[in-house]
Amino acid sequence: MNNELRTMNNKMNIKNRVAIVTGGGQGIGKEICLRLAENEAKIVIFDINEELSQEVVREIKAKGGSSLALKVDVTKYEEVNGATQQAIDKFKGIDILINNAGITKDSLLLRMKEEDWNRVLQVNLNGTFNCLKAVLRSMVKQKYGRVVNISSVIGIRGNIGQANYSASKAGIIGLTKSLAREVGRYGITVNAVAPGFIDTAMTRRLNKEAVDAIISQVPLQRMGKPGEVASLVTYLVSEEAAYITGEVIKIDGGMAM
Ligand code: NAI
Repeated sequence: MNNELRTMNNKMNIKNRVAIVTGGGQGIGKEICLRLAENEAKIVIFDINEELSQEVVREIKAKGGSSLALKVDVTKYEEVNGATQQAIDKFKGIDILINNAGITKDSLLLRMKEEDWNRVLQVNLNGTFNCLKAVLRSMVKQKYGRVVNISSVIGIRGNIGQANYSASKAGIIGLTKSLAREVGRYGITVNAVAPGFIDTAMTRRLNKEAVDAIISQVPLQRMGKPGEVASLVTYLVSEEAAYITGEVIKIDGGMAM
């Protein structure tokens, strides 16, 4: 049914655009890669998990798409910058950047270890900064770019046990709005997507009671699917969304309205 629906729909206008997707090896990032590729963009995956991202590359190539996976830890600027240069050499530019790589290390603040605070901020927020630093200059030069940063509803409303994660995702919102103001004049849009409770490895770690408790707060009474987030992201990086910038768009079944 899903596939039928997809082929019936018109394609988004992103043909031959080159997209870097961080954390594209699984979950939401993987679906973003597949959806962008279906719409004929060229996909570069930055992920620490090489095996998973090579699998995604194979899937894209099997359907006739173009893709490359590079082993990159987004917390390491030199790695990010080197991989970005490799991608630019291969595909002659970067048009789209999806900052999706993210982790959680949950605990109440009173018990939170400094290393868990730091690591979550490093991956989620500094990782986003590193990728932007590496990619932005080429977008400015070509006077075109689309950036989507994956935040979270937790960055908007907070959550018990997630002070580090919430701070990192709120930081992404401030970063998104500031950058949108800085680079709008170069034809670059910068938006954030704030998913609610999405069915991925990240949320599969929770036990049934916790899942039921969260779902009871969602007006649509279910978890979201990674593909639903991917559809929104694909729209935001398309020509059709050219006049949207600095926005934070929730996709959460009504959870945080
Ligand atoms: P996931 O855990 O399934 O996938 C995360 C991917 O990021 C993995 O492929 C992992 O290898 C990669 N990654 C982790 N650290 C990295 C690093 N230092 N450098 C490069 N790659 C790295 O996570 P999921 O659920 O797909 O989440 C994707 C994004 O969406 C994250 O930013 C997450 O915070 C956000 N999000 C997820 C929600 C959910 O309910 N699943 C809700 C709201 C936001």
